[in-house]
Amino acid sequence: MQTRITELFGTKYPIIMGAMYWIASPELVAAICNAGGLGLYPVSGDTPEQARNAIRKIKSLTDRPFGVNQMLAFPLAKEKIDIILDEKVPVIEYGLGRPWFIDKVHAYGGKVIAKLSIIKHAVKAEQLGVDAVNLVGFEGAGHPTYVTTMVLIPLARKSVKIPIIASGGISNGRGLAAALALGADGVIMGTRFAVSKESLLNDKWKQRILEATEQDTIYMDTGDPTASMRAFKTKRVHEELKKKLPIFEAMSAALEAKKLLNLSWSQMIRAGLASQGEEGMSVMGRMRFMTSAVRSEEVMIHGNEEVGVLTAGQVVGDIKDIPTCQEIIDRTMAEAEEAFRQMKAQY
Ligand SMILES: Cc1cc2nc3c(=O)[nH]c(=O)nc-3n(C[C@H](O)[C@H](O)[C@H](O)COP(=O)(O)O)c2cc1C
Repeated sequence: MQTRITELFGTKYPIIMGAMYWIASPELVAAICNAGGLGLYPVSGDTPEQARNAIRKIKSLTDRPFGVNQMLAFPLAKEKIDIILDEKVPVIEYGLGRPWFIDKVHAYGGKVIAKLSIIKHAVKAEQLGVDAVNLVGFEGAGHPTYVTTMVLIPLARKSVKIPIIASGGISNGRGLAAALALGADGVIMGTRFAVSKESLLNDKWKQRILEATEQDTIYMDTGDPTASMRAFKTKRVHEELKKKLPIFEAMSAALEAKKLLNLSWSQMIRAGLASQGEEGMSVMGRMRFMTSAVRSEEVMIHGNEEVGVLTAGQVVGDIKDIPTCQEIIDRTMAEAEEAFRQMKAQY
């Protein structure tokens, strides 16, 4: 199946694995690329050195195109973008900020994806010269807004000319076929690949997802779209929804982030001042982002659901097995082709 996304990135299939910090190892990203898709490795929580090592590790595991995801509102974004450019990473996905590096990526033949949830921002990203937009619908894990994929993608099709990637609510071939029918050129799946053999997500979570229904996630609306998120329903989620972010917790999260990223005090202060996102991310938003990011290792890798929340999409209700990435991609393509055949035969 050739689409503008397969042509743009040089992949076999129009299937991309969404960036997932902690659980996306270089091995998981390479497995997706070797299976004909495009894996995105998130470096937002990495030190520059860790980012370079991970990029080199991916290069050693696959000769197919791969991508890296960096949220520009996060500390050390500039330093890591420099490394990404130096390593000539084939695809850069960014979010939460204004990209200053598009020409430099194009100069070595790389491509840039903007990760967004708002049509106005997609139009702006196209004007800035990005190669594709990734629009995340309400159904998805991560930080969508209230607008569903069903509404976002046809609107995006009318609003921009560049290739569109649909994400949020896609976990099978019918989802891929539907996204293409809505006007997308490719899809991102996050939650589906989180429950794959190669994913580092704790086995306890994988089992919980296998037993879940489509009702088992919740949109945690903090009143700030950049800081709201969809999470797997747990006791901790309900507790978090009741409280505002206390200043003590925000400060302890900032200290954890400083340690995680190995930042000096001056780097920490500069990062805080520089991290004003394109979407005008609030101070509270940045603190919440940072809080959830620093606790994620404990939650996702060690399966400790007392200390934080697991982001997950509504497709948890559709996930009933733990296949390899290759199996997920092959099955999704076969189902999509069957869905197209059935539609042609029926209508
Ligand atoms: C466990 C998990 C962790 C995620 N972590 C990140 C992340 O670090 N950065 C990011 O931009 N998106 C993150 N996402 C969102 C995905 O990249 C993607 O946008 C989303 O999962 C798509 O919706 P879906 O889950 O319905 O497929 C994460 C998703 C999951 C399931």
